[in-house]
Formats: sequence, structure tokens, C-alpha cells
Amino acid sequence: MDKVNSSVVSEFVLLGLSSSQELQPFFFVFFSVLYVIIVLGNLLIIITVTSDNSLHSPMYFLLGNLSFVDICQASFATPKMIVDFLSEHKTISFNGCIAQIFFIHLFTGGEMVLLVSMAYDRYVAICKPLHYVVIMSQRTCTVLVIVSWAVGLVHTLSQLSFTVTLPFCGPNVVDSFFCDLPRVTKLACLDSYIIEILIVVNSGILSVSTFSLLVGSYIIILVTVWFKSSAAMAKAFSTLAAHITVVILFFGPCIFIYVWPFTTYPVDKLLAIFYTVFTPILNPIIYTLRNRDMKAAMRNIMTYYLRPKKISEIPLAVRSSLY
Ligand SMILES: *[C@@H]1O[C@H](CO)[C@@H](O)[C@H](O)[C@H]1NC(C)=O
Repeated sequence: MDKVNSSVVSEFVLLGLSSSQELQPFFFVFFSVLYVIIVLGNLLIIITVTSDNSLHSPMYFLLGNLSFVDICQASFATPKMIVDFLSEHKTISFNGCIAQIFFIHLFTGGEMVLLVSMAYDRYVAICKPLHYVVIMSQRTCTVLVIVSWAVGLVHTLSQLSFTVTLPFCGPNVVDSFFCDLPRVTKLACLDSYIIEILIVVNSGILSVSTFSLLVGSYIIILVTVWFKSSAAMAKAFSTLAAHITVVILFFGPCIFIYVWPFTTYPVDKLLAIFYTVFTPILNPIIYTLRNRDMKAAMRNIMTYYLRPKKISEIPLAVRSSLY
């Protein structure tokens, strides 16, 4: 049988977040506002981190990279979901669906490893402070960022290699607001049991191993801090509390959805909101409201851009267009 005959599904129908017609305008406004906050908040972090010299340290480089992944994470499905709130018939092309699966696993895989890198950075800073500058060099930082994307890429390509070969010949209704892998494999006209096991094993190995690394490093850090002064304890604890909140809200839903993909629950799509919308918004909230250095740097940037400029401060290229 050739591929054209076996895959007759050219598009999938998405049922969206909720079937209630009355709620659609409310959701439209609510998620539009959240999306704008996510993009602007994370952009502000990236701009602050890259332009303020006092924040040129590994912790903030990694934070800037996390903000970048967060923007990507929030952008592969959320804008389509928002537009779909206004349309009766929500569909996505076959290729669009495959693209969504590719991006979600690329970004979540990358984010998991990036969170581990950030925990490692805090581990070195707190447990090996004298070697921090040597261990967390600019080079180490770049390597950690590249490794994050590489792991995400390998993870998503292996997930897709199981999926693209599946024949889709009839049922095409996905009960979610995007193409979620466990739900899409359920539609294949073939017993997808083996594929589902491969998906669980693949996602399971990545999420459980990164999660264990995170929990392990937090425990080591907390134990180390325990024996130091209480001032160090308080400072480390507030940083860690922020990290741990992100980690729980991010990994909780991922592990829940992917560890039991054989039965898909209605609550799954609500949980998917956590890693497409709620985790990306946490970073700006946590780091702009709680971190004193970030707040000071942002204030500097705001005053720099908002206060009236002397003509000599305006870049030459802009200045010449004024005359
Ligand atoms: C991401 O990390 C790299 C490597 O350390 C750094 O050079 C870059 O500035 C970071 N990007 C952002 C947006 O912070």
C-alpha cells in the first residue's frame, strides 16, 4: 500500500478548550491578554539581561534563554487557539498538526534541560563559590544552552519518527486546542499500542531524569545552605522557591499527561494550558517582582528610554534623519 492511499486525512478538527459557546468571547479576551503579557514580559527580561552590564553573569544569561524558550513555548499553539475561539469550525492541516507536535516536544525538551542548567548554576554558586567563575565560564554557559536545544531536537525527532509513519484514514477529531501527541496517535487506523509505549518511554526518560536531577540538586543546595549562616539560607531559599514553583507547575502536568497517555482524560487539555500559558508567564512574574537586581536594571532601562534625550545621545544614524 503506498503512502498516499493510506493517509487520507488531510486535516484535523480541533474541539478547542471548551464547547460552551457563551464562554468563547471571555476566553478570547482572557488568553489574548495573557499572551500579550507573556511576550512583553519575557521580551523585557531578554532586553534587560542583554543590555545591562551588571547582569552579565551566567544566571542571567540562562534566564534570558529561558525567557526566549518561554516565548516560543507560548507561540506554537496559543495564537491559533485564541483565533479559534472566534471560529465555529476549528481545523488544522495535517502538516500543521505535525509541526505543532514537533515544536511542543522541541521547546518542552529544551526547557527541561535549561531548567537543569539553571539549577546546576545555582549549585555551583552556592556549593562551590570559590570555583564559580572558573566552572561557570561563558563557554560552559554556551555549551549548556546548545545542549538544551540539542536534547530538545533529538527528543522531538525521535517522537516524530514514530508518528509520521502512522496511517490516518478516517477519524480526525482531536479533543483539545492543539495537536497533542497522545491524542493524535489514538486516531491512527492501526493498533498504536507499541507506538504509545515508545512515546511514554521517550517522554518518560527525559522528564523523569531531568526532574530527578532537579530535585537532587535542590536537596544538595538546601543541605549545604542549612549549615551556613541564616542570611545565606534566606537568600538561597527565596531563589530556590522561585525555581521550585516553576519546576512543579511545569513538570506536574507534563508527567501526568505523558505517563498515562493510554487513557486521555478531559482534564488533560486544562493541564496542557499549564505548559503552554502558565509556565511562560511565571518567569516574568517571579523575576521582575521578586529579584532586586532585575528590578533595578529594568528601572534603568525604562528611564534611559523614556527620558527626553540630549541631541548628542541620539545615535548618528537616527540624528541625521531628523534634519
Ligand atoms: C543565552 O545564552 C548565551 C550563552 O551564554 C548568551 O550569550 C546569550 O546572551 C543568552 N541569550 C539571552 C537572550 O540571554
